[in-house]
Amino acid sequence: MDIIRLETVDSTNTYAKRLAKEGVPHGTVILADHQTGGRGRMGRSFSSPKGLGIYCSVILRPEAEPSQLLHLTPMMAEAVRRAVLEATGLSAQIKWVNDLVINGRKLCGILTEMGLNGTKTDFVVVGVGINCNQKKEDFPAELQEIATSLSMELGKEIDRETVINALLRQIQIAFDCLLTPQDWMEAYRQNCITLGKEVQIIRGEEVRQGFAEDMDDTGALLIRPADGSLEKVDSGEVSVRGLYGYL
Ligand code: BTN
Repeated sequence: MDIIRLETVDSTNTYAKRLAKEGVPHGTVILADHQTGGRGRMGRSFSSPKGLGIYCSVILRPEAEPSQLLHLTPMMAEAVRRAVLEATGLSAQIKWVNDLVINGRKLCGILTEMGLNGTKTDFVVVGVGINCNQKKEDFPAELQEIATSLSMELGKEIDRETVINALLRQIQIAFDCLLTPQDWMEAYRQNCITLGKEVQIIRGEEVRQGFAEDMDDTGALLIRPADGSLEKVDSGEVSVRGLYGYL
């Protein structure tokens, strides 16, 4: 993998998408020490203080139709989970669809973004943000009770390079299985904290409650509301009872 290292950037995903549109090859990696505009899902920001986290975007060029890549995001979450385990021994869980959680607190977020050429897949950018050496006070006030870092969990500073190496290795392994993802999706289900829980489905102003029964092979959540119907949720916000302040 070709690695481009930046000191400061607005967002490694924005930078990676620009390079991908200019034609850089599959496997190009953007790593930054600091992001001034780190982005999360649903227009949120991702706290990216200098020198403390891993802010990484990997440009992939899968030879597959967009419709064959619906499982890519959950598969990458499982890959990042494996990387954290390999590098630190910490066993994180996955909050659907792609947050890594330890002891009920968010450790990592993943933002995948796709670029199309007509109706074909041109590229996918997999953006990974891992909280590494943050202490509680390094997080913005609103995250202090819901975020954690590798060093907070381990009680010692960690070497970010070791985690980066494991991360890139696991993303590569996952990519090699992209069109045969069944084992990865099964592992995801085993490690997903959302399944088997009461959840809230939040769509704009509308909030509904249900039981997260399963996830299908495209990564969509199968939710059973109180009326007994089965609802497929493939995007949006799902809060898990007991996590991030939802009681
Ligand atoms: C989320 O929590 O919703 C996803 C957060 C993803 C953050 C990473 S950090 C590297 C890459 N660049 C970004 O701007 N976002 C992703």
